[in-house]
Amino acid sequence: MEYAIETRKLVKRYPTKRSSSMGYGRGRGIPSFSALINLIRGSSGAYIEALKGIDLQIKPGEIFGILGPNGAGKSTLIKILCTLVLHDGGEVYVNGYDPSKEPSNVLKNLQAVLPESRGFSWRLSGKQNLEFYALLYGLDDTESKKRIDYLLELTELKERAEDGYQRYSTGMQRRLLLCRALIRDTPIIIFDEPTTGLDPTGAADFRDLLKNKLAYQEKKTILLSTHNLQEAQEICDRIAILDKGKILACDTPDNVRHLVIEEREIKIDILPIFPDKKYDLLVKQLNEFSYVTDIQPETNQNGRIFRINIRLKKEQEITEILKVISENELKIKSVNTQEPTLEEAFIQMTRQAKKKVIKEEETGK
Ligand SMILES: Nc1ncnc2c1ncn2[C@@H]1O[C@H](COP(=O)(O)OP(=O)(O)OP(=O)(O)O)[C@@H](O)[C@H]1O
Ligand SMILES: [Mg+2]
Repeated sequence: MEYAIETRKLVKRYPTKRSSSMGYGRGRGIPSFSALINLIRGSSGAYIEALKGIDLQIKPGEIFGILGPNGAGKSTLIKILCTLVLHDGGEVYVNGYDPSKEPSNVLKNLQAVLPESRGFSWRLSGKQNLEFYALLYGLDDTESKKRIDYLLELTELKERAEDGYQRYSTGMQRRLLLCRALIRDTPIIIFDEPTTGLDPTGAADFRDLLKNKLAYQEKKTILLSTHNLQEAQEICDRIAILDKGKILACDTPDNVRHLVIEEREIKIDILPIFPDKKYDLLVKQLNEFSYVTDIQPETNQNGRIFRINIRLKKEQEITEILKVISENELKIKSVNTQEPTLEEAFIQMTRQAKKKVIKEEETGK
């Protein structure tokens, strides 16, 4: 299968400092040809590895999310894909083309919407700005006019299309950026943190636009980076959790959620009772089940227990627990299960990775 985006053991290193012998300028000269190459490639001194061998396979038509804390390498990966940064090791392909060898073919297949993207004239209207870019891309005049009208409609900017760009809100500017990215009608669109800076409604509208219009209507492959786990859960078909240049998990948001979470919690609401010996006995009996890891009562203002929160192994059924509770003559009002959230999984995964690094450093591996 030809993937829309594929990486194999992808590595990116950034230099952290240049050695003093590399300095050049007036009266200094460049020591040697290899030194010059090192200087250009920045491989002369210490470096940090922003990507440490990333394997990714993104299918055509997928909405794929890259999640990770600050400095995880999300933007680096995106910049490599859209030919802004060269990789240092491994392989990377966009619809079969290597960004470092065939950048123009890559750019025929992919458009990126980056947070730093600007380049709109404040004096022109939204529509004129798009027409300017269509001209710059060398597109056919009639075709591009039609496309621009279609895109302004798609992004609900049509009514404000003739307004000066300086009068656009952040959300409208973001949607105009999207129009610009779509003018050339490439099959893959990449977004680096598309909803950062938008208000909750603007962000929800933008997500809706990505999912329902770009992915389903226009059949685009979408790669996006985000810090927003809720966002990933809502719109992505699959996600990868990236941390310190490594992929910790790659699957559907639901599967990732369940991957590291070993336990779940059930909340049992009962007719309130005062804690007494009988209750202590119940807790003792529940604790005898090897799969129960924690029992916490919740009390109301009168000191009566109205809820028992029980943590237990993820896959375990709860018949025995309910049986013991009813045998102790407690009246069960409702039972709710607390599903693990993507956020919990994310925090647990990145913490585990951090512990592993510390351990490796300590043991000198
Ligand atoms: N131009 C650069 N020169 C040197 N180091 C860089 C450069 N760009 C990124 N880095 C480093 O590479 C690592 C990954 O950075 P990157 O910007 O890809 O992370 P990110 O996941 O996008 O983070 P954020 O969520 O903060 O945007 C970081 O340690 C960062 O400091
Ligand atoms: Mg970034």
